[in-house]
Amino acid sequence: MMTDTLPTDAAQSDRNEAARAILIANDRGGYTVPTAGLYPYQWNWDSAFASLGFAEFDISRAWQEIETLFSGQWDSGMVPHILFHKPDPGYFPGPDVWGCAGPIPSSGITQPPVALSFATRLLRADPEFGKDRFAALFSKMRAWGEWFLKWRRDEKGAIFVVHPWESGRDNAPDWDDAMSGIDPQDVGFYERRDTQHVDASMRPTKYDYDRYIWLVQRAKRLGWDDAAMAEDNPFRVADPTMHFILLRGMRDLLAAGEELGLDTDGLAGQIAELEAGAESLWNPGMGFYDSYNCNNGIWSNALTNASFLCWFAGLSSPHMETHLQRVLDAAPYGVPSLAPFDPRFDAKRYWRGPTWGMMNMMIGEGATEQGFALGEEVRKRTREVISKYGFVEYFDPMTGEAAGGKAFTWTAAVWLAWAGKEG
Ligand code: GLC
Repeated sequence: MMTDTLPTDAAQSDRNEAARAILIANDRGGYTVPTAGLYPYQWNWDSAFASLGFAEFDISRAWQEIETLFSGQWDSGMVPHILFHKPDPGYFPGPDVWGCAGPIPSSGITQPPVALSFATRLLRADPEFGKDRFAALFSKMRAWGEWFLKWRRDEKGAIFVVHPWESGRDNAPDWDDAMSGIDPQDVGFYERRDTQHVDASMRPTKYDYDRYIWLVQRAKRLGWDDAAMAEDNPFRVADPTMHFILLRGMRDLLAAGEELGLDTDGLAGQIAELEAGAESLWNPGMGFYDSYNCNNGIWSNALTNASFLCWFAGLSSPHMETHLQRVLDAAPYGVPSLAPFDPRFDAKRYWRGPTWGMMNMMIGEGATEQGFALGEEVRKRTREVISKYGFVEYFDPMTGEAAGGKAFTWTAAVWLAWAGKEG
C-alpha cells in the first residue's frame, strides 16, 4: 500500500477542482456523458453517480441529471440503459441497431437502478430544496422498481438480466455459461467502435461482442415486447448487481416516501420479497453470493465485486467480510472485479479483474454501514489509486495502473462524493 502518497491539502483541492472540471466538461446540457468519444450518450447508472458528484457543488444540476434520465422512461416503467439524445456516429450499436420506440431514442434494456438510492441521497443533502423534485419522481421510480419485479424475477425470487450490458458488468465471468449457449453465426457484419477509442486488450472480445449484438437483434425482432422476450429467452442470469442495488433502492424509496407522506403502499411487501429472493443468490458450494444461469441453474462460481454489494442491500453477511479481506490481501489496488485467485482473472480486461471506483463506493459504504472496518479500507485504497492514476474508467487491481477511458464521469463523481472526502 502507498499510504505515503495520500494527497497534501493543495493536491487535494487540485483534485477536487479537476474532478469538478470533468463533470462540467462531460455535461451535454441536462445530462452527462460517461466520457467523450468512447461513450457519447447518457448512460443510466453512470448518470446516477454523476448526480452525486454534481450534488457536491450544484444540487439543482444534480436533480436535473436524474430527471433527464427519467424523461426516457418507457410506458412499461423500464428506464433504458442508454438514452441517445443526439446522434453520434462514433458509437456502435446506435439507435438504429436497437430500433426502440420509447419517448427518447434509446436502448431496449435497463441498468442497475442505483438512481433510486441516489435520488434519496440528493433529498437528504437538502431536504427543503429536494422534496418537490423527489415527490415528482417518486411514482416513476416506483414504476421502475415494479417493472423489475414483474419482468426480471425468476422462479426463486432473484432478479435476473437478459443481456450482459444490463448488469453494467459487460464481460464478467458471470455470463460465460449463458453466452456459450448462444450461436451467433447469423449476426451479420457490424463494425465495432469501442476498439477505435481504447486498446482492444482492455475491451470485451469478438466472441463476446457477437453475442451482445445477437441478443439485441433477437429482442428487436420481438419488438422489445417484455412478454415475447420472456419466452424461451436464451439469456437469463440471476445477478447480484441488479438484485442488491434494487433491494437497496426500494428500501431507500420506502424510508424517504414515508418521511414525505407519499404513497408507499405495497413497498414493504416488495422489499420483503426481495430480501427472501436474495437467499437464492447464495452459492452454498462456494460460500459466497454469486450469479447463476436461470435456464439451467449453473452457478458462475465467481467471487466478483458484485458479490460484495450484499451490504449495500442492507444484508449483514459477516461471511462476506472474510472474502473481502482475502481479495484485498491478493489485490493491493482492489476491490478487483474478479478475485485474483480465480483462473479467469485478467487484470486489465474490463469486468474480469480491474477495480472500478463506483463499485468500490457501494461496497465500501455498505460495509461501513454494517460496521465493518474494511469499508474504510476500501475507501482509502480507492482514494489512493485515483490520487495516483487519475479519474480513469478503471484500474489494474495489482499495479493500480490506469485503464480504459480517460476523464471519466463516475470516477470523478465518486472522488467528490466519497473517496476524496477528508476523514
Ligand atoms: C460500460 C460499462 C457499464 C457503463 C458503460 C458507460 O459498458 O460496463 O457499466 O455503464 O460502460 O460507462
